Amino acid sequence: MSQEALLLESKFGSFKVATFPRPTSALAGEILIKVQASALNPIDWKVRDYGWLISDDNYPAILGLDIAGDVEDVGEGVVGFRKGDRVFYNGGLKNEYAGFQQYSRAPAEIVAKIPKNLTYSQASSIPVGFISAACGLYAKAPIGLGLNPAVDDVEKKFQGKAVVVIGGSTSVGQYAIQLLRYLGFSTIIAYASAYHSSYLKSLGATDFIDRKVVSFSNLDTAVKKITSSPIEIVYDALSSPDSQPAGYKVLTNGGKMVITLPNEIKDKVDDDKKEILQVHGNVHPESHREFGVTLFGKLSKLLEDGIIVPNKVEDLPNGLEAIVEGLRRLKNNEVSGTKLVSHPNETA
Ligand SMILES: NC(=O)c1ccc[n+]([C@@H]2O[C@H](COP(=O)([O-])OP(=O)(O)OC[C@H]3O[C@@H](n4cnc5c(N)ncnc54)[C@H](OP(=O)(O)O)[C@@H]3O)[C@@H](O)[C@H]2O)c1
Repeated sequence: MSQEALLLESKFGSFKVATFPRPTSALAGEILIKVQASALNPIDWKVRDYGWLISDDNYPAILGLDIAGDVEDVGEGVVGFRKGDRVFYNGGLKNEYAGFQQYSRAPAEIVAKIPKNLTYSQASSIPVGFISAACGLYAKAPIGLGLNPAVDDVEKKFQGKAVVVIGGSTSVGQYAIQLLRYLGFSTIIAYASAYHSSYLKSLGATDFIDRKVVSFSNLDTAVKKITSSPIEIVYDALSSPDSQPAGYKVLTNGGKMVITLPNEIKDKVDDDKKEILQVHGNVHPESHREFGVTLFGKLSKLLEDGIIVPNKVEDLPNGLEAIVEGLRRLKNNEVSGTKLVSHPNETA
């Protein structure tokens, strides 16, 4: 049986919508899903432009890591899911686990049901951003800072403490803010463009610094005007060459900064005991699987209870054909505070 898929034909090559074999049944422990929504991430264009993550012999490659759809078939040993359930999950780097196609498979233990209050598009905005925020903040070392490995309601353990989220309006940043609110941090300072201020406050930011007014070199001073509390944690969702040194400077001695891209801190001082942790926002690898299972076990309830809300979404027309233009917009910083979502089964 075949389907339509967006193929990256070769390393640094072109994308092309083409007919491609489809998985027809679920393997043991897995679920086969008809993909209704597949959100775009910066990593998708970076895989194409930088040749990251996919080895030469795995082309043509199918990308797409944020997926929502309907259960089509359930493999041996899977409990809790049946045909027709609406589900969402984190795609993997093998073609059969990817989202830019009409059917995909997923290990059942890292799949969650979509709560009734969410659309497929909203659900597809969650996995990569949420996992990146949760792994960095909640998972035990060496994956993350270990603030809440069981993803429990921790009864305001962090009351009185202050934290900074750089790139507060990014997808990752929005989930980091919500996860910090859940921990009860008293001061959550978001750094983003001013038009996101009230929305980020609705997610849990208590204070806001406008990135168009305060440059990275003045971030430290702006934070000190808001709070005299030591900043023990910075989540730098942006992780650009400019943002990382700025976040590092904001940290108190002994503090910890989570970054989403490779470490750019060149002027690190060894006796300040500050730590930098680069997050890996995917729960397919063995190293991240146990935390991923915990996370996906709790996710539907966190969404039902409104503790976590999805990103705002923009639905793209024309099925898989829309993805290339969407990735161009992401690369050129033309998307702000919103997740672009494709609908593979609407491909003509
Ligand atoms: N390591 C991993 O596994 C992993 C996982 C996920 C993401 N990432 C990386 O993390 C980064 C964020 O990903 P994402 O999907 O969350 O991004 P995104 O939502 O696509 O980011 C868009 C946002 O970037 C913000 N931005 C751009 N320049 C900024 C600046 N100078 N200061 C503050 N905000 C700025 C814009 O904010 P305003 O509109 O407010 O200006 C915009 O809302 C990307 O580089 C991505 O590749 C890594």
